[in-house]
Amino acid sequence: MCGIVGYIGNRQALPILVESLKRLEYRGYDSAGVSVIDRELFNSKAAGRITELEKRLPDAPGRMGIAHTRWATHGRPSDRNAHPFTDCSGRISLVHNGIIENHRELRAGLESRGHRFTSETDTETVVHLVEENYKGDLRAAVSETVRHLRGSLALAVVHLSEPDRIVVARDESPLVIGLGQDENFVASDLPALLKYTRRVIYLQNREVAVIRRDGVGLESFEGEPVERDIATVDWSPEDTEKGGYQHFMLKEIYEQPRAILESLIGRIPGLELDIGGIDKEDFDSVKIVACGTSFHAGLVGKYVLEQLTGLPVIVEAASEYRYSANTRYSPLMVLVSQSGESADTLQAAREARRRGSRTLAITNVVGSSITREVDSVLYTRAGPEIGVAATKTFTSQLIALYLLGMAMGKHRGTLLPSQLQELIDGLRKLPRDVQSVLDNRGAIKLTAEWMAQARDVFFIGRNVHYPTALEGALKLKEISYIHAEGLPAGELKHGPNALLTAETPVVAIAIRDHTYDKMLSNIGEVSARSAPVIAIGLENDRELKKASDLTLYVPEVRPVLSPVPVITTLQLLAYHVALIRGCEIDKPRNLAKSVTVE
Ligand code: F6R
Repeated sequence: MCGIVGYIGNRQALPILVESLKRLEYRGYDSAGVSVIDRELFNSKAAGRITELEKRLPDAPGRMGIAHTRWATHGRPSDRNAHPFTDCSGRISLVHNGIIENHRELRAGLESRGHRFTSETDTETVVHLVEENYKGDLRAAVSETVRHLRGSLALAVVHLSEPDRIVVARDESPLVIGLGQDENFVASDLPALLKYTRRVIYLQNREVAVIRRDGVGLESFEGEPVERDIATVDWSPEDTEKGGYQHFMLKEIYEQPRAILESLIGRIPGLELDIGGIDKEDFDSVKIVACGTSFHAGLVGKYVLEQLTGLPVIVEAASEYRYSANTRYSPLMVLVSQSGESADTLQAAREARRRGSRTLAITNVVGSSITREVDSVLYTRAGPEIGVAATKTFTSQLIALYLLGMAMGKHRGTLLPSQLQELIDGLRKLPRDVQSVLDNRGAIKLTAEWMAQARDVFFIGRNVHYPTALEGALKLKEISYIHAEGLPAGELKHGPNALLTAETPVVAIAIRDHTYDKMLSNIGEVSARSAPVIAIGLENDRELKKASDLTLYVPEVRPVLSPVPVITTLQLLAYHVALIRGCEIDKPRNLAKSVTVE
């Protein structure tokens, strides 16, 4: 959702800016641009990927600068609409992540006062406002400007007359300052910084910072000085490299055994979740709110929490939550967000608190915005995820939800000690179960060859495997561009059956649980309409093999935990289909990781 970087120090800025920008490309890849200040302000931008920008870049000297990779919101992807934007004098340059909601009225006023615009973007209004407010002090000009903006922003601004500083501001969109030795950095997200430093300051909402070579000063939009502790990040730079894999997505799928293990360490057997006692409070219902893949994790969480705690659980898409007329507060509100930055989920968190709920975030990013909006945080420990399609963070979210359900079930007495122990044993075995799926990739690859020709694919499952089917379909559609739909298996006959032909494969998840017999019947119904069935079941399930055209096996696991090995299979299936179809796997078209606009 647009990536911003900035550098000021004693090294040449351009290579550092381009390198850092590449590490943020998952945030958007519609265009890229850079500004570097030496004796002049050098500016270059290009539509398309960062590699397009690189082709145009001369060797511009300068020890400070800013850069941007864009995910278009206002104005189509083009050279003209690429950041950075300069003011009328060409002395101020600015990059922005977010949306300026009042840009139309601001632009009309600026144009009437003689400012010349070169793009269709909302961002360009900001650089002209900074120009108007500039009276010899860039920080003061930025502080004055942000007070007139509505919407969301992370800004980095430089001025040719003040080559010793980058001024940054944040309201709603993320911004992290990286601290080095005689050099400092700024970025939308940690992966851009990890190669250079692990010491960071998270800028918070309505804060402005002046970043110099030898120090950083923070203040609020209102001009109050702000003191902030320096945080040390425990992700390593290698975590953000491909490490020999062809794609980040594949690497991240393969990192799942480790991510699951990390998410469990220190939390069982005592189920010490360190969530401020939320698991020991008495609630009469739970609401889970999230977007996309995290929403699917939440849907699995519904079945898990209901089964383990006996509490009713409602799951809502974050973008819909605030419009719900049911304003009765949900006693416990769980917000699931890998990035901790999805605007819809952040707004839902605020609304939930306004309604008086206890709020718990499940997130992968320490220091992310959502961690400041909630009462407690349960971290997934998946490490950075660069591939736009979420994989290891989904399975880590499931682990967090299992642990939450188990801790609440233990407190509520809805789980017998023996049941709890079985679940603990099952969780401990999961990394090996997932590894065994990864080790047996051959059958998945063959299935992918067969599926790669399809135009439409249906995924069906029941109970915990209904959301697993939704997630399997999402993975396939987002990276291979094949139309895919996930459905509760029982719903096929209520309409979608009309679409089944010999050309529409149906992926049926049929684990030996209480839904198994019904799943076999559904598979029979699909076959009777000539649609090919790819079944996913437990090892040695001969009955399932007989009922389906192709079968993929996962190891024997407790049914409630089985979404983990099953989704690993579906992630790999989607990956191989996309590979065969020659798709851009890590950067699917029109998408970006962490959607920071509503
Ligand atoms: C799909 C995907 C998205 C995200 C969604 C929420 O593969 O990654 O659907 O799950 O944008 O993002 P987070 O979890 O960061 O709030």
